[in-house]
Amino acid sequence: MTYLELSKEKLDALRTRNDYLILAFESSCDETAVAVTRGREVLSSVISSQIEIHKRFGGVVPEIASRNHALAIDSITKEALQKANVTLDDIDVIAVTYGAGLLGALLVGVSYAKSLAYTLKKPLVACNHIKGHIAANYISAPTLEPPFICLLASGGHTYILKVNAFDDMEIMGETQDDAVGEAFDKVARVIGLPYPGGPEIDRLAREGSPVYKLPRAFKGESHLNFSYSGLKTAVINLVANTKARGGRINPADLACSFQTEATGVLIDHTIEATKRTGIKTICLAGGVGANSALRDGLTKAGQKAGCKVLLPPRSLCTDNAAMIGICAYEEIKCGIAPASLDLDANPAL
Ligand code: KG4
Ligand code: ZN
Repeated sequence: MTYLELSKEKLDALRTRNDYLILAFESSCDETAVAVTRGREVLSSVISSQIEIHKRFGGVVPEIASRNHALAIDSITKEALQKANVTLDDIDVIAVTYGAGLLGALLVGVSYAKSLAYTLKKPLVACNHIKGHIAANYISAPTLEPPFICLLASGGHTYILKVNAFDDMEIMGETQDDAVGEAFDKVARVIGLPYPGGPEIDRLAREGSPVYKLPRAFKGESHLNFSYSGLKTAVINLVANTKARGGRINPADLACSFQTEATGVLIDHTIEATKRTGIKTICLAGGVGANSALRDGLTKAGQKAGCKVLLPPRSLCTDNAAMIGICAYEEIKCGIAPASLDLDANPAL
């Protein structure tokens, strides 16, 4: 029997069960993460963040990220197994993020997961990072089932999704240019805050008020898409023009003004999506989902619209491997085929 035939047989035997163990890997950007999960339960989740390494460059340097993933992945795996109190022999399935993300960074997780799957003769499940973010909601709300509306806001993506089933999602709105997290990071740099800018703006905005008037893209249009490049440019111009006039920008007020606008449009479009579909459950996913203004605003607006708003804890919004383990579990239930050993990373997935 070939490796793939054996994997198929093993995966088919697991599809209706929820008591088997998944060892999951995530290395798409600057976090090396490994987790052990069972059903929708997380037995361990270990994250080695490279934020301090990339900070001095003002953003993630792909080559340095890959190298540090390679350095960390083995010890992080051992730690995740230890914390879950299991050994590699106990693991039933290996899961890994194969896209979207940085090519070299993804390849570290994919190669490591493939070699483990091959030597241990365990089925390999290839996971989409974005679907992983959505799956994080199942950890904090284990009884959650589709349909629901998911606002996915990360450093690379901005979507409003109608989730009919885990293998059936419709895009109701998406960004036409920058992702919202990217806008947070770029605006933070203009204000002089370190990388990653999202949490820094979140902190600084608490000391300010939304006094600066900033534009909203697609005002009055009926679609639910986003555009963040105009908002970002407006902030850059405001800072440059004020300086040219010899004036002074209040950084806390600017952070608050930007954050209010950047999150306001996400909230408005998400509520509109619930009205258009009649779906009254809202989920949040992705790193920007850790933002205080977004969490508070979405909760208030959702309640006002008669919706149930589910917010995963902040630690599950940013990149982690627990969400990849849960994603694999949901994919297995939906009938996903095991990945073959020639699985490649797909940065643009
Ligand atoms: O989901 P994520 O960890 O990685 C991607 O898949 O992109 O998201 C990272 C993004 C970064 O742009 C970061 O600045 C942003 O999420 N972020 C935040 C906050 N925490 C992280 N943005 C706003 N407020 C936060 N508290
Ligand atoms: Zn992510």
